[in-house]
Amino acid sequence: MVSRRSRSSRPFREIVEESLQRRTFLHVAMAGTCAAVLTATGRAATGRAATGRAANVAAVQFRSVGPSLSDAVIVPDGYAAEVLYRWGDPVNGVTPQFHPDASDTAEDQARQAGMGHDGMEFFSVPGHDPNTRGLLVINHEYTDQVLLFPDGLDPLPPALMPPHKVRKSKASHGVSVVEIARQTGGDWMVVESARARRITADTPMRICGPAAAVLGASARGTVNNCATGRTPWGTCLTCEENFQGVFGTSHAGFVPTAAQRRYGLRPEGFCYTMNGSKVGAYRWWEQDQRFDLANSDNDSQRFGYVVEIDPLDPESVPVKRTALGRLKHENAELVLAADGRVVVYLGDDEADEFIYKFVSAHRWDPSAGNAAGPGAAGSLLDEGTLYVARFDADGSGRWLALVPGQNGIPVKRTPDDAAGFDAADICIRTRQAATAAGATPMDRPEWVAVHPETREVFVSLTNNRGRQTTDAANPRSGNIFGHILRWHETDHDPASQSFRWRVFVLAGNPSHPDPECHGNVSGDSFGCPDGLKFDSAGILWIQTDMSSSVVGTSGYAELGHNMMLAADPDSGEVRRFLTGPRGCEITGNTMTPDRRTMFVNIQHPGEPADDVSAPTDPGRYSSWPDGAGARPRSATIAIRRLDGGVIGS
Ligand code: FEO
Ligand code: CA
Ligand code: CA
Ligand code: CA
Repeated sequence: MVSRRSRSSRPFREIVEESLQRRTFLHVAMAGTCAAVLTATGRAATGRAATGRAANVAAVQFRSVGPSLSDAVIVPDGYAAEVLYRWGDPVNGVTPQFHPDASDTAEDQARQAGMGHDGMEFFSVPGHDPNTRGLLVINHEYTDQVLLFPDGLDPLPPALMPPHKVRKSKASHGVSVVEIARQTGGDWMVVESARARRITADTPMRICGPAAAVLGASARGTVNNCATGRTPWGTCLTCEENFQGVFGTSHAGFVPTAAQRRYGLRPEGFCYTMNGSKVGAYRWWEQDQRFDLANSDNDSQRFGYVVEIDPLDPESVPVKRTALGRLKHENAELVLAADGRVVVYLGDDEADEFIYKFVSAHRWDPSAGNAAGPGAAGSLLDEGTLYVARFDADGSGRWLALVPGQNGIPVKRTPDDAAGFDAADICIRTRQAATAAGATPMDRPEWVAVHPETREVFVSLTNNRGRQTTDAANPRSGNIFGHILRWHETDHDPASQSFRWRVFVLAGNPSHPDPECHGNVSGDSFGCPDGLKFDSAGILWIQTDMSSSVVGTSGYAELGHNMMLAADPDSGEVRRFLTGPRGCEITGNTMTPDRRTMFVNIQHPGEPADDVSAPTDPGRYSSWPDGAGARPRSATIAIRRLDGGVIGS
C-alpha cells in the first residue's frame, strides 16, 4: 500500500528503507527463572539466574535476569550468547591467530581485533541476506597497557617506552571492519573477506570541514574510538573520545595552554598509579613526535572528531568531519529533519560538558546515494551549523548556535586573537565556544538515542560525583548513579531551535544508605547508564558503565556487575537483559535487520579497581571469555533466542 503521509511526517527508518530499495544494491541494514550463561569457558551453558519476573510490558517480553557478580555473561531464559570476535582474533578469521601470552607483534596486532571493543554497527553486504551475513564495524576504545604485553609495563621510566610497544599500542586502537556470516546450525563466525580491515592510530585520514583550513587536508590515525553512528548513505561514524590520554611530553618546563587544558591535555598523559606514584601508561610521545605536546605541530588538534568510514570500500580513506566539533565524542546519532537536512546529536563525555547537535546546510537527496559519503567532495557533514543545548528550569530548552558573533561568542579580530573565534576555531575549540554561548553543564553526556517513530530524543548522563550546584536537568549533587533525560523538539522536527525536556529516569540503588542515591527506576535497578540505543521496534536498550573501582563495593554491590537493560519508553519499565563478567563495561549494540541477532560488546573484562592489571597473573581478576586463568579479552558477542524469535519481544 502506498503511504499517503508527507515525507516530513514519516519516520526516518521508513524514508531510508524506501530510498535504499530504489538503489541497485542495498548495503545499509537498518538496522522463566533460568538464564543462559556464557561462562569464562566461552561456551553457552544454562544456569540459574538470581531472580526472574514475568513480563507484563507489551514491547519488552523477556524474563529479566538478576544482578550478578559471577565471571560470566548471563542472558535471559530462552536466549543464548556466543563469543564472536575477541581482542587478538584475526580480522580475516584465519591468521594471525592470537598468542595467549600476548606476544603478538605490532604487525600481527594491525591484522587482529584491537582492544577495548566499544560502539559497533552492522551493515549488510550486497548480494547476501542481511540477516545471515554482514559487516561489523567495531570500535576499539583504548588499551590496557599491562595486558597488551607479556611483560606488562616494563621497562618503567626513566627507561623509554620501546618502539615496538608504542607501535603495538597504536595498532590496538582504532576500528575493525569484519565480515561475519551465520553458519548452518546457527553460530556466527568471522569469515574471510576482501572488505575486512583494521583502521589504527597510523591509518591515513582526510580532514574535511572548517578546521581543515588550519589543520591541513590530511592526518594519520584515529584513537579512543568510543561509540558510533551511521548515515543513510551507508557509512559508519566512529567517534574519538579520550584522545588526550595518548598525548604528553618529556620536555621539562612544558606548560599546556588554556586551550589544551580544556581538553585535558597534560605532560604526563594517561597514568596508572603504582606504589603511590604515577606512571605514564602510553608514552607514545617518547617514540612518535606526533604525540609530543612540546612539538608545535603535534597532532592533538587533529583528534577529537567524528570520523566517517565506508565499510564496503576497504580502499576508502576515512574522513574526519570537523564540522561536528572537537569533543570527547561519545556517539553520533543521525536523523533527518522535516525538510531533509541531516541532524546529528552528539554528547561530550566529561563532567560539566555539553550536549550538541549539528544541522547540515543542505538536504539529503536519496537519489544521490553514496555521493555524500567519504568519496565525495561537499559532504552534508562538512557544511552546517553546530548547536549546543541549554536546559531551562521550566522544562523548555534552546539550541544555541555556535557562530562567531552570535550567542556571546566573540569574533576573531586578528590571526593571533586567542580569545576570538572564526569558523575553524568553532570546530577546534568547540568546548570554549559552547561555554561562551551559555550551554548547560551536564552530568557527563554519553550516548544520544532518537526514537525511530516519535523522534523523541534520549540522552544518558552517566554520573558526576563532583557536582555541587544542581539544576533542573542535573538534579542530584554528587550524582554517582546518573540519569537519562528525554526531549521533544518543537514541531517534532530535529532541526528546531527549541525543545521541551523532562527526566526519563534517575538511576540508583534502592539499598544505598543515602536516599538520594535510590533513584526512581521502575523495574530492575541500575547505575551509570552509558550505551543507549533504540531498536527499530522502539525498545530503548541501556548499557551501564559503573567504574571497576566501585562495582561490588558497599552501596553498589546490590547492582552486581555492569549490565544491559531494555526500557519501555512509554511506561518507563526497565528489565535487566544481560549481566557481564568481572571488571567489564557493557557497550556497543547493533542488530540484524530482522532483530533476531543482537551483537553486544564486553569491554575490558578483568579491569581491576585500580586499573592496574597483573602482568604475571593476567587472569587474576577475570578469565572471560577463554577461561581457566586465561588473559581476559574484550569481545563481541552474538545473542539469539533459542526459538529463533525476535530479540526482546
Ligand atoms: Fe567511551 Fe564515555 O565512554
Ligand atoms: Ca561510553
Ligand atoms: Ca562511560
Ligand atoms: Ca569505556
